[in-house]
Amino acid sequence: MNVEVPLSGGDVTEGVVRVGDTVRRPVGPHSPAVHGLLRHLERVGFEAPRLLGVDDRGREILSWVPGEAPGRPLPHYAVTEEALVGVARLLRGYHEAVSSYEAPEGAPWDTVASNLDGKPEIIGHCDVTPENVVFRGGRPVALIDFDLARPTTRLYDVVTALRHWAPIADPCDRDGPLYGVDVGRRLRVFCDSYGLDRGARRVLLVAARTRFERSYEAMRFRAEHVGGGWARIWHAGAGPRIRRAQDWLERNWDELDACLN
Ligand SMILES: Nc1ncnc2c1ncn2[C@@H]1O[C@H](COP(=O)(O)OP(=O)(O)O)[C@@H](O)[C@H]1O
Ligand SMILES: [Mg+2]
Repeated sequence: MNVEVPLSGGDVTEGVVRVGDTVRRPVGPHSPAVHGLLRHLERVGFEAPRLLGVDDRGREILSWVPGEAPGRPLPHYAVTEEALVGVARLLRGYHEAVSSYEAPEGAPWDTVASNLDGKPEIIGHCDVTPENVVFRGGRPVALIDFDLARPTTRLYDVVTALRHWAPIADPCDRDGPLYGVDVGRRLRVFCDSYGLDRGARRVLLVAARTRFERSYEAMRFRAEHVGGGWARIWHAGAGPRIRRAQDWLERNWDELDACLN
């Protein structure tokens, strides 16, 4: 008999389980679009869960990616500068891999979520949190959890990753090992490792400001209309956490901007 081991790393999706070398996840309206993306990533050889099918309970069957996704509190290996460099390169690699993907017209991506203005350039991952990056031997090697993937800009993915990995957050909301880090330096290291161009660096903080405002609204909407894990996160204080991060960003704007440009 196959044992089902609950996976709680992400907090949002209820009923994610590991069964042997597979993961079973509930499907939603966005799943057909995500499955097309996963098939593309398999074709071009980018490391991510492989789509193996749908089980008799209607759940998607994905391959288990060997390694570990950091949980909370964050382990030391996830907060080193090497890890930061690795995540930036992984995100760049993902963007290269996905740039050749032509998604079907009208694919049902998750569109509740926030976005930046501007013509979409790629299908972004849009949720590059520590829980969604798999490490092996201390190095980030794969992205998982593509539920929020959708047409967006490269800069949106960069800013979202930096929200979690720099992190662009009030110190009181950071995981212990990230409490006193030099965020300006980490922003620069990430952008250098990703290879972000000068034009994008100049507008990065403005993009972060816009994203915060829109994520606040998107999260509130999800908490009210989707419920489940989203409502749980919201009631556990996600809204005030975003507000504190916004205030921290405004207070430190000039110093951070100087590090980027
Ligand atoms: N294919 C996979 N390979 C390895 N670990 C996985 C995989 N899928 C999920 N996990 C683990 O389970 C956790 C939760 O799964 P995830 O798909 O991210 O769901 P959520 O939507 O709740 O964030 C992840 O943070 C990771 O630790
Ligand atoms: Mg997740």
